[in-house]
Amino acid sequence: MFHDKRGLAVTASSQAAVDALDAGVEEFLGQGREAAVLVARMDELDPDMILGQCLRGYFMRLPSRAHLEVKALDCLAKAQALAPEGTERERKHVEALAAWCAGDLRRTNAIWEDILVDHPHDILAFRLAHFLHFFIGDLGAMLHSSARIMARWSEAVPGYGFVLGCRAFAHEENGDPTTGEPLGRRAVELNESDIWAGHAVAHCLETLGRRADGITWVTAHADAWRKRGPFANHLWWHRSLHYLELERYDEVLDAFDKEYWPGPSEDNTDITNASSILMRLRMLGVDVGDRWNSVAEVCAGRLGECLRPFNELHFVMGLAMGGKLEEAGGIVANLRNLAETKAGTGATAGDVARDVGVAVAEAIVAHAKGEHAKVVETMMRVRYKMVPLGGSWAQRDVWIRMLINSAMADGQDSLARALLAERVADQPTSAPSWKLYADALDRCGEADQAQAMRAKAASLLAA
Ligand SMILES: [Fe+2]
Repeated sequence: MFHDKRGLAVTASSQAAVDALDAGVEEFLGQGREAAVLVARMDELDPDMILGQCLRGYFMRLPSRAHLEVKALDCLAKAQALAPEGTERERKHVEALAAWCAGDLRRTNAIWEDILVDHPHDILAFRLAHFLHFFIGDLGAMLHSSARIMARWSEAVPGYGFVLGCRAFAHEENGDPTTGEPLGRRAVELNESDIWAGHAVAHCLETLGRRADGITWVTAHADAWRKRGPFANHLWWHRSLHYLELERYDEVLDAFDKEYWPGPSEDNTDITNASSILMRLRMLGVDVGDRWNSVAEVCAGRLGECLRPFNELHFVMGLAMGGKLEEAGGIVANLRNLAETKAGTGATAGDVARDVGVAVAEAIVAHAKGEHAKVVETMMRVRYKMVPLGGSWAQRDVWIRMLINSAMADGQDSLARALLAERVADQPTSAPSWKLYADALDRCGEADQAQAMRAKAASLLAA
């Protein structure tokens, strides 16, 4: 029996194989580019290492791509054959991979959390559970998961910063960015390559509406994060959200062209970044030229798979706003089929499609067609049900903006005024929001208040 760098027993043929496992896990924690190379090295050293097969299987599940699912099943079969020789912890990892392959994401998380009760230093189980809690919008679980293990960690345990970064993000997504921010900053002090911790701070600054600090934060660490994998693009996206709220639209477009959509990408996060920012700009009346085209082209390639409603909604936006309404309808049909065939079967995505995914997808298509009353009716019904779609508050916000935009476009002025009052209360440093609020107030015959709101926007932009 050998041990990993945190002292956990691992069934393997050599310490070198376990060290290779550690290296693969470390690369995952830091969202690096070398995960595939490191896993290949691990397989060379010990193709019969149970956790090695689990790690490879997990890596095949993480990107939510259909062509990788069969590879995950291959890893699962190997891991299951080896499991009887393993420890109880290793057998639980095999069970977790099986549940993930079956699409039962809550069961998958429950198994990892069970591992963590006795093995709080199983950083792979922790980080994967953090990922999957977030993926399905189980925000309380994300916070509680980290709370249960923090007392067993200290800076003396290798990888502590990664746990701290997850804790920071969990606080932010649970509405407490003030507690999250210093934890994320400390994690980045410990390891500047910890891009997930850096991302947690970016979220805190977005939620707190600290525009200048948000831009500075990403810019200050850009060199370190550019060396990480494609997730760095999401940090550039975060920075451009601040540009957008300061009406620096040229810089938003420049970041889109040069930083996070320099060309077509098949990476799901890249697609969500691109689709989401273009939708925001469209609703603000900013001319984005032909930028939807390449996003729509990539999304058209996703008609054959329907794995995660959150991603599908971004594909629908890319297609519908990019003029490919027929293909957008195809994705909506896929979501309906997912809801009809998988909801209630234990496959988490089916329930999410049924409960909210189909409705938001239909609203997006309606928005593209200018059917704004339908958007308002649909989004008023489901706006508080969107958390299980997963993704962050900042990401799902694009569909709240869509509701407001449609309320304005449909002439539902009182509703628009109310929604915008809510928006500026939540995001008091968003200059475009104050201006929209002023427009809604004008339409409601409240010119004096409208003038005060425009002054507020002007003061934000002058700061
Ligand atoms: Fe984010």
